[in-house]
Amino acid sequence: MEGDKKMKATVAEEQAKLRAFAMEVKDTKNELEVCQKRLNLQEVELAATQEEARSSKVLAEDRPCTGLAMATLHNLIFGFVLLVAMEHAFADFNFYKDMACYWGYRNLAVWNNGQNFALGLNNVSGCGIQTRNRFLFGSVEMQIKLVHGNSAGTVTTYYISSTGSKHDEIDFEFLGNVSGQPYIIHTNIWAQGLGRKEVQFYPWFDPTAAFHNYTIHWNPSQIVWFIDGIPIRVFRNYQSYGIAFPNQQAMRAYSSIWNGDSWATRGGQVKINWKSAPFRAFYQQVKLRTCPWYSQASTAQCSAKTPANWWTAPVYSRLSYAQQGQLMWVRKNYMIYNYCQDWKRFKGVLPPECSLPLY
Ligand SMILES: *[C@@H]1O[C@H](CO)[C@@H](O)[C@H](O)[C@H]1NC(C)=O
Repeated sequence: MEGDKKMKATVAEEQAKLRAFAMEVKDTKNELEVCQKRLNLQEVELAATQEEARSSKVLAEDRPCTGLAMATLHNLIFGFVLLVAMEHAFADFNFYKDMACYWGYRNLAVWNNGQNFALGLNNVSGCGIQTRNRFLFGSVEMQIKLVHGNSAGTVTTYYISSTGSKHDEIDFEFLGNVSGQPYIIHTNIWAQGLGRKEVQFYPWFDPTAAFHNYTIHWNPSQIVWFIDGIPIRVFRNYQSYGIAFPNQQAMRAYSSIWNGDSWATRGGQVKINWKSAPFRAFYQQVKLRTCPWYSQASTAQCSAKTPANWWTAPVYSRLSYAQQGQLMWVRKNYMIYNYCQDWKRFKGVLPPECSLPLY
């Protein structure tokens, strides 16, 4: 009986929270609608992008459905509250519901019912967005089509990050280039405020010609950066060797476009050509399959090896042999900088993870 009462109280509380959340969504929607009206995106370009979004094939999903089914079963047994949490976690992405603009809303465009969006940069401002909710572990994926033409000096970022002075962060950054020259795909990881673990690549495709899937996968055993399902980088949890690994601080996902011409293009030698502005990066097919973080208790919940926590399944704890092969192919042919080979920078003493197995 006592338990029943408690349950009812929690449900009522949860319902109140949901109502508040719905109000917030409505507010943001209004706010964003106003933004959108102010935007002077060329109609033709927008229509063309929409057309492309429609015709581009949805990437095949590799998520095992049994995990999800088990999760639902688990939640039916253990209560309504958890179910609400799971629904939040796996609900289909919608910009208005899941994202907020933290900078340069005039350069943000959202269309197709919150499924597609674009971030722009002009000589007045760039633009930045972030997820509303925090999470611990899971995967964040989005298809991005980077700034086409002369994008030299522009930097498009896509990362997940916590806040505070000892923050954790897992980065993708795309450094633009003059027309016909390759972008640089820059990756980095920060754990408890320490970074300096950069690895850079050239893409094996033109990232401005079509959408490509960029995924950050984060679980208690490893972090993997994927492009179109191919692992380009892995960072294993070597905490037992005293190497910091992000697993205690909840993160949000962010994306932004900004003027990085003071360093991005060959150390600042090539400046942005504003004649080509506005510069725009396009987004679609965002998926946030993450473990929602509500309170300190979420740390244990999100790390627990349960069927509901699909990211803790053994299959995600290590790269498969096939994935190891793909990783080596990318490293051999497309890696242009690796902090683990920069003896000069680290004055002959490379960070300890550099001498441990990569995968
Ligand atoms: C741009 O292209 C040049 C020439 O191919 C290359 O050296 C450079 O690394 C590229 N990327 C950036 C960001 O400058």
